[in-house]
Amino acid sequence: MHHFQLINKELYAEECKVQDLAEEFGTPLYIYSAATLKRHYQAFDSAFHGLSHLTCFSVKCNANLSVLRLLKEQGAGADIVSGGELYRALRAGMDPRKIVFSGVGKQRQEIREALEAGILMFNVESLPELHLLQTTAREMNCTAPMSLRINPDVDPRTHPYISTGLKKNKFGISMDLALELFIQARDLPNVEPVGIDCHIGSQLTEIEPFLEALDRLKTLYSRLRDAGISVQYLDLGGGLGITYAEEEPPHPSEFGRALTQALQGLELTLILEPGRVIAGNAGILVTRTLFAKEAELKRFLVVDAAMNDLIRPALYKAHHRMSEVAPQGRPESVVDVVGPICETGDFLARDRALPEMQAGELLAVFSAGAYGFAMASQYNSRCRAAEVLVDGDRPRLIRKRETYQDLVALEDIEN
Ligand code: LLP
Repeated sequence: MHHFQLINKELYAEECKVQDLAEEFGTPLYIYSAATLKRHYQAFDSAFHGLSHLTCFSVKCNANLSVLRLLKEQGAGADIVSGGELYRALRAGMDPRKIVFSGVGKQRQEIREALEAGILMFNVESLPELHLLQTTAREMNCTAPMSLRINPDVDPRTHPYISTGLKKNKFGISMDLALELFIQARDLPNVEPVGIDCHIGSQLTEIEPFLEALDRLKTLYSRLRDAGISVQYLDLGGGLGITYAEEEPPHPSEFGRALTQALQGLELTLILEPGRVIAGNAGILVTRTLFAKEAELKRFLVVDAAMNDLIRPALYKAHHRMSEVAPQGRPESVVDVVGPICETGDFLARDRALPEMQAGELLAVFSAGAYGFAMASQYNSRCRAAEVLVDGDRPRLIRKRETYQDLVALEDIEN
């Protein structure tokens, strides 16, 4: 459930009229709903109330400081994958003891920063990374808490670009090598094994792949115990899907029940790294129609948002539901919704039935709160959109629209 609803033929974000927000802050505009973010976080987190657990919001899906702060106030920790995300999480006031560091290519400097901050654990993905963690921790005269990311070779049945737990993917360590690596880790003086981890993919619409992965982790957990290594954390990653169109992903409570049952009797703290399920349907992208263009073979709705603002349709053929911000009741026709960027791949929707719209009218693109602004770029020297967070009847500009000066701010024409 989200708080973007039509009331008397006007789209509202909570108690704010989207039309008014577009007038005040301009377009393209990302709008997030605070009530929806809180609701999704609580629905997810409370699904695990029967277990010792920690919910670490996956910063990569929406890294805005105000969004992170709001979630931190709800009790969230953070799943980070770079020094930049660590910086953001700390700036937002996140507790370092609730931060886990994932990712296949951590760099020495990033590891240093995370050790300085005192994060909960590093999800290590390879032997060379384990050694880098050891040398960096030794240089700093401290101990690095590590968990090992397993590649459980489970098919998450999602888009191939966002599957991560198959043998052919770059992520994690195979089950066969895991025990050996743990033994090495245990014997390193500046590393302490504290957890096991996996992440099998994103936008999963079934629970079974998670349970399969969990089963492998449990097998490893008992092998570790037999070898005298006891870990405290089991991190199952993120990945629970959302409804973009017709998908029917399990409700977090169902997910929670299944995991609680599967973990019964184990003395572990469960860590989850949800992103999309919390932020995805808590945000929309509002764009203004520039032209309705009738070409020989197709109709195009040219809007002021483009693939640089929301790349998911171009990159994954992702479907984002769309609606007029102020429906006029006009008949529908099939259009491609395209942006101003000079590429045929620049579309927000293809062959979409939409009410006929005129220049100047506003269109809302739903489910844009995760991997929307976070993946935006300045391609075609387009200024990145503004972001607004609505709380009841109060909108707050949480990121200004970029300016032309911002586009060139880091460049030096003299050199
Ligand atoms: N943890 C790890 C280690 C991850 O790699 C990811 C996402 C997550 C957690 C969060 O997954 P979520 O709960 O959001 O599914 N840009 C793509 C999604 C890429 C996801 C990559 N990893 C998209 O727009 O669909």
